[in-house]
Amino acid sequence: MKVTAKAHPNIALVKYFGKKDSKNVLPYNDSLSITWEGLETVTSIEPADGFYFLMNGKDASSEDKAKVNAFLSRFSKAPLNVLIRSTNNFPTAAGLASSASAFAALSVAANRYFACDFDKQTLETITRKGSGSAIRSLYGGANRFNRDGHVTHVDASLEDYRLFVILVDDSKKALSSREAMKRVVRTSPLYKAFVNNANEHVSLLSDALVKEDFTKVGSISEENALAMPGAMLAANPPIRFMNDASFAAIRLVDAMKHEGFEVFYTMDAGPNVKMITKSRDADSLKKRASKAGFTILGPFKPSKEGARLI
Ligand code: PMV
Repeated sequence: MKVTAKAHPNIALVKYFGKKDSKNVLPYNDSLSITWEGLETVTSIEPADGFYFLMNGKDASSEDKAKVNAFLSRFSKAPLNVLIRSTNNFPTAAGLASSASAFAALSVAANRYFACDFDKQTLETITRKGSGSAIRSLYGGANRFNRDGHVTHVDASLEDYRLFVILVDDSKKALSSREAMKRVVRTSPLYKAFVNNANEHVSLLSDALVKEDFTKVGSISEENALAMPGAMLAANPPIRFMNDASFAAIRLVDAMKHEGFEVFYTMDAGPNVKMITKSRDADSLKKRASKAGFTILGPFKPSKEGARLI
Protein backbone atom coordinates (compact mmCIF):
# COMPACT_ATOMS: atom_id res chain seq x y z
CA MET A 1 0.00 0.00 0.00
CA LYS A 2 1.27 3.42 -0.95
CA VAL A 3 1.93 5.84 1.93
CA THR A 4 2.36 9.60 1.46
CA ALA A 5 3.56 12.23 3.93
CA LYS A 6 4.08 15.96 3.82
CA ALA A 7 6.48 18.19 5.77
CA HIS A 8 7.54 21.81 5.75
CA PRO A 9 11.02 23.26 6.04
CA ASN A 10 12.00 25.07 9.19
CA ILE A 11 14.17 28.13 9.22
CA ALA A 12 16.51 28.40 12.19
CA LEU A 13 16.77 31.78 13.90
CA VAL A 14 19.53 30.40 16.13
CA LYS A 15 21.37 27.85 14.06
CA TYR A 16 22.77 24.38 14.57
CA PHE A 17 26.09 23.98 12.82
CA GLY A 18 28.34 21.16 13.94
CA LYS A 19 28.11 17.74 15.51
CA LYS A 20 29.71 16.87 18.82
CA ASP A 21 28.82 13.23 18.16
CA SER A 22 28.59 12.53 14.42
CA LYS A 23 27.32 8.98 14.78
CA ASN A 24 24.33 10.01 16.88
CA VAL A 25 24.02 13.50 15.40
CA LEU A 26 24.27 15.35 18.69
CA PRO A 27 24.89 19.06 18.12
CA TYR A 28 27.43 21.25 19.88
CA ASN A 29 24.76 23.85 20.55
CA ASP A 30 21.02 24.23 20.98
CA SER A 31 19.14 25.77 18.08
CA LEU A 32 15.67 27.18 17.53
CA SER A 33 13.57 27.42 14.39
CA ILE A 34 10.12 28.10 13.01
CA THR A 35 8.39 25.71 10.59
CA TRP A 36 6.69 27.39 7.60
CA GLU A 37 3.74 26.28 5.52
CA GLY A 38 3.53 26.91 1.78
CA LEU A 39 7.04 25.53 1.34
CA GLU A 40 6.68 21.76 1.37
CA THR A 41 8.07 18.33 0.57
CA VAL A 42 5.65 15.56 -0.34
CA THR A 43 7.12 12.05 -0.11
CA SER A 44 5.54 8.74 -0.97
CA ILE A 45 6.66 5.14 -0.50
CA GLU A 46 5.17 2.34 -2.57
CA PRO A 47 6.02 -1.29 -3.31
CA ALA A 48 8.43 -1.94 -6.22
CA ASP A 49 10.66 -4.69 -7.65
CA GLY A 50 13.86 -3.04 -6.32
CA PHE A 51 15.01 0.20 -4.73
CA TYR A 52 14.13 3.38 -6.64
CA PHE A 53 14.32 7.00 -5.54
CA LEU A 54 12.91 9.84 -7.61
CA MET A 55 13.70 13.35 -6.45
CA ASN A 56 11.54 16.05 -8.03
CA GLY A 57 10.53 13.48 -10.66
CA LYS A 58 14.08 12.56 -11.68
CA ASP A 59 16.24 9.59 -10.81
CA ALA A 60 18.25 10.67 -7.72
CA SER A 61 22.06 10.61 -7.69
CA SER A 62 23.70 7.41 -6.47
CA GLU A 63 24.91 9.35 -3.41
CA ASP A 64 21.36 10.46 -2.50
CA LYS A 65 20.05 6.95 -3.20
CA ALA A 66 22.60 5.41 -0.86
CA LYS A 67 21.77 7.97 1.83
CA VAL A 68 18.04 7.34 1.63
CA ASN A 69 18.56 3.57 1.50
CA ALA A 70 20.71 3.69 4.64
CA PHE A 71 18.14 5.89 6.34
CA LEU A 72 15.26 3.54 5.53
CA SER A 73 17.18 0.54 6.78
CA ARG A 74 16.55 1.95 10.26
CA PHE A 75 12.86 1.26 9.68
CA SER A 76 13.15 -2.14 7.99
CA LYS A 77 15.70 -4.89 8.12
CA ALA A 78 14.20 -6.62 5.06
CA PRO A 79 15.50 -5.76 1.54
CA LEU A 80 14.06 -2.41 0.49
CA ASN A 81 11.83 -3.11 -2.50
CA VAL A 82 10.26 0.31 -2.69
CA LEU A 83 9.84 3.33 -4.91
CA ILE A 84 10.35 6.64 -3.10
CA ARG A 85 9.13 9.85 -4.70
CA SER A 86 10.13 13.08 -3.01
CA THR A 87 9.00 16.40 -4.44
CA ASN A 88 9.70 19.91 -3.20
CA ASN A 89 7.70 22.93 -4.28
CA PHE A 90 10.82 25.08 -3.79
CA PRO A 91 14.51 24.98 -4.89
CA THR A 92 16.36 21.94 -3.56
CA ALA A 93 19.68 22.27 -1.70
CA ALA A 94 19.93 26.05 -2.03
CA GLY A 95 19.89 26.83 1.68
CA LEU A 96 16.11 26.65 1.94
CA ALA A 97 16.24 23.73 4.36
CA SER A 98 15.01 21.18 1.81
CA SER A 99 16.77 18.32 3.58
CA ALA A 100 14.85 19.16 6.76
CA SER A 101 11.41 18.79 5.20
CA ALA A 102 12.59 15.85 3.07
CA PHE A 103 13.80 13.70 5.96
CA ALA A 104 10.90 14.66 8.22
CA ALA A 105 8.41 13.61 5.52
CA LEU A 106 10.36 10.44 4.77
CA SER A 107 10.50 9.50 8.46
CA VAL A 108 6.78 9.85 8.99
CA ALA A 109 6.00 7.99 5.75
CA ALA A 110 8.44 5.17 6.60
CA ASN A 111 7.13 4.88 10.15
CA ARG A 112 3.73 4.01 8.69
CA TYR A 113 4.82 2.10 5.56
CA PHE A 114 7.02 -0.30 7.53
CA ALA A 115 4.47 -0.39 10.39
CA CYS A 116 7.05 0.61 12.98
CA ASP A 117 4.88 2.90 15.07
CA PHE A 118 7.94 4.42 16.76
CA ASP A 119 7.33 6.85 19.63
CA LYS A 120 8.39 10.54 19.59
CA GLN A 121 11.86 9.96 21.05
CA THR A 122 12.70 7.09 18.70
CA LEU A 123 11.42 8.90 15.63
CA GLU A 124 13.50 11.97 16.60
CA THR A 125 16.59 9.81 17.08
CA ILE A 126 16.18 8.30 13.62
CA THR A 127 15.14 11.51 11.84
CA ARG A 128 18.12 13.55 12.97
CA LYS A 129 20.40 10.88 11.51
CA GLY A 130 18.99 11.77 8.08
CA SER A 131 19.49 15.48 8.63
CA GLY A 132 20.00 17.21 11.97
CA SER A 133 17.65 20.07 11.19
CA ALA A 134 14.93 17.63 10.02
CA ILE A 135 14.11 16.86 13.63
CA ARG A 136 12.56 20.33 13.96
CA SER A 137 10.38 19.80 10.85
CA LEU A 138 8.64 16.91 12.60
CA TYR A 139 6.67 19.64 14.38
CA GLY A 140 4.81 22.84 13.58
CA GLY A 141 5.48 26.22 15.19
CA ALA A 142 8.70 27.07 17.03
CA ASN A 143 10.99 24.26 18.17
CA ARG A 144 14.31 23.84 19.92
CA PHE A 145 16.75 21.14 18.83
CA ASN A 146 18.59 20.53 22.08
CA ARG A 147 22.09 19.25 22.68
CA ASP A 148 20.60 16.00 24.01
CA GLY A 149 19.34 15.30 20.48
CA HIS A 150 15.64 15.91 21.15
CA VAL A 151 13.11 18.63 20.53
CA THR A 152 11.32 20.98 22.90
CA HIS A 153 8.33 22.77 21.47
CA VAL A 154 8.20 26.50 22.26
CA ASP A 155 4.64 27.43 23.05
CA ALA A 156 4.47 30.80 21.31
CA SER A 157 1.79 32.46 19.23
CA LEU A 158 3.29 33.03 15.79
CA GLU A 159 0.09 34.04 13.98
CA ASP A 160 1.46 37.44 13.12
CA TYR A 161 4.76 36.24 11.58
CA ARG A 162 5.34 36.13 7.84
CA LEU A 163 8.42 34.81 6.04
CA PHE A 164 9.80 35.89 2.67
CA VAL A 165 12.70 34.34 0.81
CA ILE A 166 14.85 36.81 -1.10
CA LEU A 167 15.97 34.45 -3.84
CA VAL A 168 19.40 35.42 -5.06
CA ASP A 169 20.48 32.00 -6.37
CA ASP A 170 18.45 28.81 -6.72
CA SER A 171 21.22 26.51 -7.92
CA LYS A 172 22.41 23.51 -5.90
CA LYS A 173 25.20 24.49 -3.58
CA ALA A 174 28.69 23.20 -4.28
CA LEU A 175 29.37 22.05 -0.72
CA SER A 176 26.81 20.24 1.46
CA SER A 177 26.03 21.57 4.97
CA ARG A 178 27.40 18.29 6.28
CA GLU A 179 30.83 18.86 4.74
CA ALA A 180 30.81 22.57 5.59
CA MET A 181 30.06 21.77 9.23
CA LYS A 182 32.93 19.32 9.49
CA ARG A 183 35.40 21.84 8.12
CA VAL A 184 34.13 24.66 10.34
CA VAL A 185 34.30 22.54 13.50
CA ARG A 186 37.79 21.37 12.62
CA THR A 187 39.37 24.58 11.39
CA SER A 188 37.42 27.75 12.23
CA PRO A 189 38.92 29.76 15.10
CA LEU A 190 35.49 31.40 15.48
CA TYR A 191 33.60 28.16 16.06
CA LYS A 192 33.77 28.18 19.85
CA ALA A 193 32.38 31.70 19.96
CA PHE A 194 29.57 30.67 17.60
CA VAL A 195 28.61 27.78 19.90
CA ASN A 196 28.69 29.82 23.12
CA ASN A 197 26.75 32.62 21.55
CA ALA A 198 24.08 30.28 20.14
CA ASN A 199 23.59 28.50 23.47
CA GLU A 200 23.00 31.85 25.17
CA HIS A 201 20.73 33.10 22.42
CA VAL A 202 18.38 30.11 22.33
CA SER A 203 16.87 30.80 25.77
CA LEU A 204 16.66 34.54 25.13
CA LEU A 205 14.95 33.92 21.81
CA SER A 206 12.56 31.41 23.30
CA ASP A 207 11.51 33.99 25.97
CA ALA A 208 11.09 36.73 23.37
CA LEU A 209 8.89 34.46 21.23
CA VAL A 210 6.70 33.50 24.18
CA LYS A 211 6.37 37.17 25.21
CA GLU A 212 5.51 38.07 21.61
CA ASP A 213 8.30 40.65 21.58
CA PHE A 214 8.87 40.88 17.82
CA THR A 215 11.60 43.51 18.09
CA LYS A 216 13.62 41.33 20.47
CA VAL A 217 13.07 38.24 18.32
CA GLY A 218 14.44 40.24 15.38
CA SER A 219 17.49 41.62 17.17
CA ILE A 220 18.51 38.21 18.59
CA SER A 221 17.97 36.53 15.21
CA GLU A 222 20.02 39.11 13.35
CA GLU A 223 22.85 38.81 15.89
CA ASN A 224 22.92 35.10 15.16
CA ALA A 225 22.29 35.31 11.39
CA LEU A 226 25.81 36.23 10.37
CA ALA A 227 27.62 34.28 13.09
CA MET A 228 27.38 31.05 11.08
CA PRO A 229 28.58 32.53 7.75
CA GLY A 230 31.24 34.34 9.81
CA ALA A 231 32.52 31.10 11.32
CA MET A 232 32.51 29.63 7.79
CA LEU A 233 34.52 32.51 6.37
CA ALA A 234 37.15 31.90 9.03
CA ALA A 235 37.42 28.18 8.16
CA ASN A 236 40.40 26.82 6.27
CA PRO A 237 39.88 26.82 3.33
CA PRO A 238 37.15 29.48 3.73
CA ILE A 239 33.54 28.63 2.89
CA ARG A 240 31.67 31.42 1.15
CA PHE A 241 28.00 30.62 0.72
CA MET A 242 26.99 34.27 0.71
CA ASN A 243 27.59 36.29 -2.43
CA ASP A 244 27.34 39.98 -3.40
CA ALA A 245 23.59 39.67 -3.94
CA SER A 246 23.15 38.23 -0.42
CA PHE A 247 24.80 41.33 1.03
CA ALA A 248 22.70 43.57 -1.21
CA ALA A 249 19.58 41.80 0.09
CA ILE A 250 20.65 42.40 3.68
CA ARG A 251 21.25 46.08 2.88
CA LEU A 252 17.73 46.21 1.48
CA VAL A 253 16.29 44.78 4.73
CA ASP A 254 18.26 47.36 6.72
CA ALA A 255 16.96 50.14 4.47
CA MET A 256 13.37 48.94 4.87
CA LYS A 257 13.83 48.89 8.63
CA HIS A 258 14.88 52.53 8.52
CA GLU A 259 11.79 53.28 6.47
CA GLY A 260 9.68 51.98 9.36
CA PHE A 261 8.98 48.36 8.38
CA GLU A 262 9.07 45.82 11.21
CA VAL A 263 11.36 43.29 9.58
CA PHE A 264 14.52 41.30 10.24
CA TYR A 265 16.68 38.97 8.19
CA THR A 266 18.25 35.58 8.70
CA MET A 267 20.64 33.38 6.71
CA ASP A 268 21.20 29.67 6.27
CA ALA A 269 23.96 27.62 4.69
CA GLY A 270 23.37 29.21 1.30
CA PRO A 271 23.25 32.57 -0.48
CA ASN A 272 19.52 33.23 -0.12
CA VAL A 273 18.32 35.67 2.51
CA LYS A 274 15.12 35.22 4.47
CA MET A 275 13.21 38.07 6.00
CA ILE A 276 10.52 37.91 8.61
CA THR A 277 7.91 40.58 9.08
CA LYS A 278 4.47 41.04 10.60
CA SER A 279 1.34 40.15 8.66
CA ARG A 280 0.17 43.76 8.38
CA ASP A 281 3.45 44.82 6.73
CA ALA A 282 3.70 41.79 4.41
CA ASP A 283 2.08 43.17 1.24
CA SER A 284 3.77 46.56 1.24
CA LEU A 285 7.11 45.00 2.15
CA LYS A 286 6.90 42.59 -0.79
CA LYS A 287 6.08 45.46 -3.16
CA ARG A 288 8.96 47.52 -1.81
CA ALA A 289 11.49 44.66 -2.09
CA SER A 290 10.31 43.64 -5.56
CA LYS A 291 10.60 47.25 -6.73
CA ALA A 292 14.23 47.16 -5.61
CA GLY A 293 14.72 44.40 -8.20
CA PHE A 294 14.75 41.29 -5.97
CA THR A 295 12.92 38.01 -6.57
CA ILE A 296 10.75 37.49 -3.53
CA LEU A 297 9.04 34.20 -2.58
CA GLY A 298 6.22 34.39 -0.05
CA PRO A 299 4.66 35.46 2.20
CA PHE A 300 4.70 32.14 4.05
CA LYS A 301 2.85 31.60 7.32
CA PRO A 302 4.15 29.62 10.28
CA SER A 303 2.86 26.08 10.04
CA LYS A 304 0.77 24.79 12.92
CA GLU A 305 1.37 21.27 11.63
CA GLY A 306 4.53 19.22 11.51
CA ALA A 307 5.30 16.23 9.30
CA ARG A 308 2.16 14.16 8.75
CA LEU A 309 0.54 11.49 6.61
CA ILE A 310 -1.73 12.80 3.89
O1 PMV B 1 20.16 19.38 8.54
P1 PMV B 1 21.65 19.42 8.46
O2 PMV B 1 22.27 18.39 9.35
O3 PMV B 1 22.15 19.41 7.07
O4 PMV B 1 22.08 20.84 9.07
C1 PMV B 1 21.79 22.06 8.49
C2 PMV B 1 21.77 23.10 9.55
C3 PMV B 1 21.50 24.50 9.05
O5 PMV B 1 20.38 24.49 8.18
C4 PMV B 1 22.68 25.06 8.30
C5 PMV B 1 21.18 25.42 10.23
C6 PMV B 1 19.96 25.02 11.01
O6 PMV B 1 19.99 25.04 12.23
O7 PMV B 1 18.92 24.73 10.39
